[in-house]
Amino acid sequence: MLSGKRVIIAGAGPGLGSATAYLALINGASVVMVARNEERLRSLKAMLSKYGRVEAVKGDLSTMSGAEDAVKRAYGILGGIDGVVTVLGGYTEASISELTEDSLFNMLRVNLAAHLFTVKAAVQLMNRGSIVMVTAIWGPYLNWPNRVAYVASKAALSRVVETLASELLSRGIRVNAVAPGGIRRDFRPERDWRSTRSIGDSSAPPEDIANIIIWLLSDQSEWVNGAVIPADGGFRLRQR
Ligand SMILES: NC(=O)c1ccc[n+]([C@@H]2O[C@H](COP(=O)([O-])OP(=O)(O)OC[C@H]3O[C@@H](n4cnc5c(N)ncnc54)[C@H](OP(=O)(O)O)[C@@H]3O)[C@@H](O)[C@H]2O)c1
Repeated sequence: MLSGKRVIIAGAGPGLGSATAYLALINGASVVMVARNEERLRSLKAMLSKYGRVEAVKGDLSTMSGAEDAVKRAYGILGGIDGVVTVLGGYTEASISELTEDSLFNMLRVNLAAHLFTVKAAVQLMNRGSIVMVTAIWGPYLNWPNRVAYVASKAALSRVVETLASELLSRGIRVNAVAPGGIRRDFRPERDWRSTRSIGDSSAPPEDIANIIIWLLSDQSEWVNGAVIPADGGFRLRQR
């Protein structure tokens, strides 16, 4: 589905980032993974190398200069950019009475600003292509008491998707987002992940979300643009 495509995974960790990198590779893409933890990047690269061309770039995407530097290095390795997935994220619990400046601004930095910095850096180097941002079901689709900063950051990221898609429309760059429910961080290549969950569970193996991301990166989803797709197997529809 992604044959010949050059894809950056921004924020590659043990959960959704590595599952997305794996599925992109087995679908024919070349992949560069970006994250801060060099040792983990090395071990992810070692685990995934046998499935295709994968490289790792150490970088902090939470500043504009850090994102620019990491994306430029990824571009240098790939020789172009056809797809970008912003997977990075953070989480914090606090009610409105417990909210601190640090907790709010930290969430906005990692869950909103870092995604925008990465996209800004990438679109300077892209002709056409697909950008997929990872938000959460909480914010755009569900409320979540006592997670004010987290929900604010995910809601803001979700709301900006249409604006980015609109700005980039004339350049043939699509922008969409997936809004997952809970995601497990137990990714392993080649496993029977479907047998580990049932539709509507509160958390999913990362492959369930990564499959939607792969489709959004591919030309099969060319007519989807500016969408925030709930990726929760129907969890949000459960009677509470
Ligand atoms: N886990 C869940 O239940 C859940 C539910 C809904 C939505 N989500 C969202 O889905 C996405 C993936 O979730 P996940 O649980 O698989 O991963 P995650 O642990 O939330 O984040 C993925 C990776 O992002 C990297 N990262 C964080 N800050 C960074 C920075 N400043 N610069 C570069 N990389 C950075 C981290 O690696 P380094 O530490 O090496 O930088 C981390 O391993 C996130 O956006 C998350 O908010 C998760």
